[in-house]
Amino acid sequence: MPVHAPAPYPAARLRRLRRTPALRDLVAENRLSAADLIWPVFIREGARVEEPIASMPGVVRLSVDRLLSKATEAVELGITTICLFPYTDPALRTETCDEAWNPDNITNRAIRALKAELPGLSVMTDIALDPYNANGHDGFVVDGEIVNDETVAALVKMALAQAESGADILGPSDMMDGRIGAMRSALEAAGQRDVAILSYAAKFASGFYGPFRDAVGASGRLVGDKKTYQINPANRDEALRCVARDLDEGADMVMIKPGMPYLDICSTVKDRFGVPTFAYQVSGEYAMLQAAAQNGWLDGEAVMLESLLAFKRAGCDGILTYFAPEAARCLRD
Ligand code: PBG
Repeated sequence: MPVHAPAPYPAARLRRLRRTPALRDLVAENRLSAADLIWPVFIREGARVEEPIASMPGVVRLSVDRLLSKATEAVELGITTICLFPYTDPALRTETCDEAWNPDNITNRAIRALKAELPGLSVMTDIALDPYNANGHDGFVVDGEIVNDETVAALVKMALAQAESGADILGPSDMMDGRIGAMRSALEAAGQRDVAILSYAAKFASGFYGPFRDAVGASGRLVGDKKTYQINPANRDEALRCVARDLDEGADMVMIKPGMPYLDICSTVKDRFGVPTFAYQVSGEYAMLQAAAQNGWLDGEAVMLESLLAFKRAGCDGILTYFAPEAARCLRD
């Protein structure tokens, strides 16, 4: 992008265009809107349940009935997409993870309920075994190792069950090798040609996922860490290779995760590949901002909107954020 060198002062006074709100608005290079936001929601069994998550102030686990009413509000606020994450009943968490592709698991029932009630809302899912796994990992564990190819076969079954339930966007978050290609060809073979894949292509082994693991009930169960499958935070080239590979295998959109500490990756991915690019402002980023706001150390609304706008400036087309309804409300008012 050519940047014209400014004329010397005083011919150029860059403050001229910052003088009034109208001038600032006129020359704003990026804008945030509710349509840019994907709202991640935690769901669980029951009726009339709104269960707070201690490490994510303001976020709750919802039963499907409550999900429907909150999703209706989200649609009214202009949010286009909701992403579902299940808190699975502990009795259904096993080493074989069969609940993950059960057509009647909580996620698949929630997809069907949402599509019946709010057909215009896009429903995105998560594909990984951790909410169903006895040991909290995204893949099967055999003799302490997270096995790749056996896991991919299971993820394909999950993808098919979610597509059959009516999901619009599948979100593989597991970081196994070869999963996008395997899912894409299984979906084609099953006649599911139009379901989109938003690959968690550049997902780093991050400390910022802690509160999410509390929310899905995986924290206490996780044995070890996820460093043999998620990307080392030191690595930029590797992240770009993951993006290229997932696009080649049939991903429609890609995601970088976490968000704020990885804006360099977002910017490079958008510049280099020119594809729909998303960032996930993850649970730990949300928790940090909320905690500081609750203590009066930061202006919560200002940092929420500033952090989301930063993703747009970095080149993202949209952001997964737990702030989605609150941000949409602020943008409307
Ligand atoms: C796991 C998954 C994680 C998140 C989304 N899917 C956590 C992990 O990899 O342990 C994190 C989201 C967040 O922190 O908000 N499949």
